Amino acid sequence: MLTWCEINLAHIRHNVRTLRRVLGSGPELIAVVKANAYGHGLIEVARTCQAEGVRWFGVAEVAEAVVLQEALDPPCQLLLLGYAEAEELAEAVRRRVHLGVFDEAYAEQVDQVAAAVGQSARVHLKIDTGLSRQGVLAAEGLPFVRACFNLPHLEVAGLWTHFACADSGHPEDVAQPLARFLTLRDALRAQGWPVPFLHAANSAATLFYPPAHLDGVRCGLALYGLWPNPALAPRLEAQAIVLFPALSWKSKLVQVKTVPAGSSVSYGASFTTTRPTRLGVVGVGYGDGYDRGLSNVGEILVRGVRCPIRGRVCMKHVVVDLTDLPAEITPRAGEEVTLLGPAGGDCITADELAAHLDTINYEITTRLPPTLPRVFDDPPAN
Ligand SMILES: Cc1ncc(COP(=O)(O)O)c(C=O)c1O
Repeated sequence: MLTWCEINLAHIRHNVRTLRRVLGSGPELIAVVKANAYGHGLIEVARTCQAEGVRWFGVAEVAEAVVLQEALDPPCQLLLLGYAEAEELAEAVRRRVHLGVFDEAYAEQVDQVAAAVGQSARVHLKIDTGLSRQGVLAAEGLPFVRACFNLPHLEVAGLWTHFACADSGHPEDVAQPLARFLTLRDALRAQGWPVPFLHAANSAATLFYPPAHLDGVRCGLALYGLWPNPALAPRLEAQAIVLFPALSWKSKLVQVKTVPAGSSVSYGASFTTTRPTRLGVVGVGYGDGYDRGLSNVGEILVRGVRCPIRGRVCMKHVVVDLTDLPAEITPRAGEEVTLLGPAGGDCITADELAAHLDTINYEITTRLPPTLPRVFDDPPAN
C-alpha cells in the first residue's frame, strides 16, 4: 500500500463530545456525513457518532441513506439534505428517510410518490433566509408551508434553513437570517400551525452563535476536527473548546538519490537544483488525489521534518528535497512520509494545503478519493 489515510476515530469521539457539551441537553446533534463523511469514511464515522449517542445523520444522496440504514444498528433518523431524483424518491420514502423539500412543485412530486408507495413521506421544509440556494424565500414561506401541510401524503417533520456566512465571525451574519426564520415560525404559530423540529445551524453557527441552536444543529466540519474559520479558533480555545482533526494522509518513499547541481526535476523542468541535492521520490500523485497545484509549493513531512516539493506533482509520484534534513536522518526507500496530518512535533493541516490551493479545508478532505484505503484506529464494533 503506497498511499492511504488514517482516521483517528478517538478524535471524532472527542469532537462529538465537545459539540454535545456546547449544545447542552436540549438540541439534537445531526451529524453531517455526506460525501463519505467529508472524506473520512461514511460507515465508520457514523457508527462512531452513534456510539456517542448521535441519533440523526445528514446525507446528500439517497445512496448514502441506504448505506447508513443497513450499517447502523439500531436504525437512526436520516435526513436527506440534497435533491432526490424521481427514481430514487420511492426508495427514500419506503425507507422513511426525512426528505428536504425545497419548493411546492417538489413537495407535490414527493406527495405523489408517497401516495404511490402507500406511505406518508417525512419532509423538512427548507426556507431560504439569504443563501439563495435551495428553499423558498422566508417572505414567501407561509403559503409554502401551508400548502405542504395540506398535501395528504406529507408528514411535515421539520422546518430548516442554512446560513451563508456563519463563519464570518460577525454575529449579525447569523442573527439576521435567523430572525427571518423565526419570524416565519412565529407567523405559523400565530395561525395555529404546529411548528415542527426547527434546525438551522452548521458547525460555525453552532460554535459561535448559541441562539441558533433551536431544536437541532447540523454539524459536519467540526465533527472532523476542522475549524470553519481557523482565524476564529483562538476565540473558542479560550473557552476550552478544542477540536482535534481526525484525518492523516500518508505515503512512502520509493527512492532516495542524490543529483548534481544544475539538475532539473520532474516534468517540464520547473525546478533546477542549485547544489548537489538529495531527492526523495514519494509514491503518491494527482492520480491518488494529491493536487498538482502543490507542485513547487507544498511540503511533506519526512520523519516529522518539512521537506519542500521540487518540480511538478506527477500522476503517481512527487519529488521532495531531503538535502536539509538533519545529518542524523537518512531516509530510505520504503519509509512512511506524511502528506497531511501530524508527524514528529509538526503537522501539515488541511488549512495549510487549502491555502496553497486557494480553497477551503472542506475541499481538501472531501475530495480525497473514496478508493484511497482508510485505516481506522479502534473502529466501533457493530
Ligand atoms: C444544508 C447543510 N447543513 C449543514 C452542513 C454542515 O456544515 P458544516 O460542515 O459547516 O458544519 C452543510 C454542509 O455543507 C449543509 O450543506
